[in-house]
Amino acid sequence: MSLTKTKTAYFCQNCGVSSPKWVGRCPSCGQWNTFVEEVVYKSEEKFLWKKGEEKKSRSPQPQLLSEVPARNEERIQLPDAEINRVLGGGLVPGSLVLMGGEPGIGKSTLLLQISLALKKRTILYVSGEESEQQIKMRAERLKMSAENFFVLTDTSLDNIFRQISEINPEIVIVDSIQTIFSSKIDSSAGSVSQIRECSGEFLRFAKESGVPVILIGHITKDGTIAGPKILEHMVDTVLQFEGDRHHVYRILRSIKNRFGSTAELGIYEMQGAGLREVSNPSEVLIAQREENLSGIAIAATMEGVRPLLIETQALVSSAVYGTPQRSSTGFDLRRLNMLLAVLEKRCGFRLGAKDVFLNLAGGIKVEDPAIDLAVITSILSSGEDIAISPKIAFSGEVGLSGEIRPVTRIEQRISEAEKMGFEEIVLSKYNLKGIDKNRYKGIKIRAVGKVEETFSYLFG
Ligand code: TYD
Ligand code: MG
Repeated sequence: MSLTKTKTAYFCQNCGVSSPKWVGRCPSCGQWNTFVEEVVYKSEEKFLWKKGEEKKSRSPQPQLLSEVPARNEERIQLPDAEINRVLGGGLVPGSLVLMGGEPGIGKSTLLLQISLALKKRTILYVSGEESEQQIKMRAERLKMSAENFFVLTDTSLDNIFRQISEINPEIVIVDSIQTIFSSKIDSSAGSVSQIRECSGEFLRFAKESGVPVILIGHITKDGTIAGPKILEHMVDTVLQFEGDRHHVYRILRSIKNRFGSTAELGIYEMQGAGLREVSNPSEVLIAQREENLSGIAIAATMEGVRPLLIETQALVSSAVYGTPQRSSTGFDLRRLNMLLAVLEKRCGFRLGAKDVFLNLAGGIKVEDPAIDLAVITSILSSGEDIAISPKIAFSGEVGLSGEIRPVTRIEQRISEAEKMGFEEIVLSKYNLKGIDKNRYKGIKIRAVGKVEETFSYLFG
């Protein structure tokens, strides 16, 4: 009979803090009602990885930074330009990467596709969610096969490390971290202590062996990666795969990156046979049409460091029912309400009794405030039923008093619009200072200071 002492503790499901007794409000993150009791078995064994080896007793010594040898580590180039860029130039050996995203967004597809295309390297794909047959079917759907690609459908951490020492993979992918459990801890898979324990083991494995590990993580309804916040602190890189499941475009962003900038992003298109890299997003986010329709304006926005021209579509119509409806996809509804209030007050637009629907093309979410000017223009265009020339792009933030405010990286936006064949760009007059007008031969720059000015310029 084992004499292991059982111990229980309460863990905050939000931030992972533990407490010997239940508390209503987490003292660390301030959330209410997040403490859950989990059984912890005290185990003598310390690490699963390298179980048999003697632990060296020598503790680390301080070293002069100038004497630390600089290691210019070769990054592993993945066969996908978008993810390489988001990672900051490839996968760093020994790094632990967490990829989060809503269910069904395409995390498994993306990583399977990348692994199958990496023909030369030995890859272990651990799946706790799908069977070998399902993975095989998906690979067939992607029309890809590989020789050194191993699939392991297991959720036990002990067995996963046993298999790792058998096949010596060069990259390990774990789909998903919430399904893996360690026998050292008695709570169920997906609980805070399991996630922390298992990620800790993978972290130690990655650092000691130099093998990069990519963990897939689910996302909760409020958009955070399920499990303790400390998971995000533990890993080197946090990637987020986002998009609207009903649309084809997906965005891969890095939220945290110890080896590169977090401003980079990758864009993919989900097709019948997997994800395709979109190298020129502006081209796909603007619909090509023959006739000019009212209610459409093109915004020159930035996503991280990438300029992105995107179509905003608005429909303004008389409310059939008492309360007018306001709905928006891809754009913050509260901000839409604010812009409507500005239009009502500043332009004398009677929008109070109108339904207003706003839509950004391609299911992309934009947070860049520079989209404001295109949003109000499309609303005005629909309200007046006058089409805007498809050769004009807009870039400016709208303030509460109706002023058009300057935006960052204006030169990049103008260059992108020029490259895409736009003949004119409307922007804030406060942005003029920073730009050299003579640089842009093919595009006219129109500066405006207020919403009313924009309105009279466009609609006379
Ligand atoms: P999946 O990778 O299983 O998502 P996740 O791992 O993030 O939960 O993606 C599943 C969705 O992608 C599914 O709804 C079907 C779609 N899909 C395609 O459209 N084309 C394809 O080639 C594949 C493999 C999936
Ligand atoms: Mg999956």
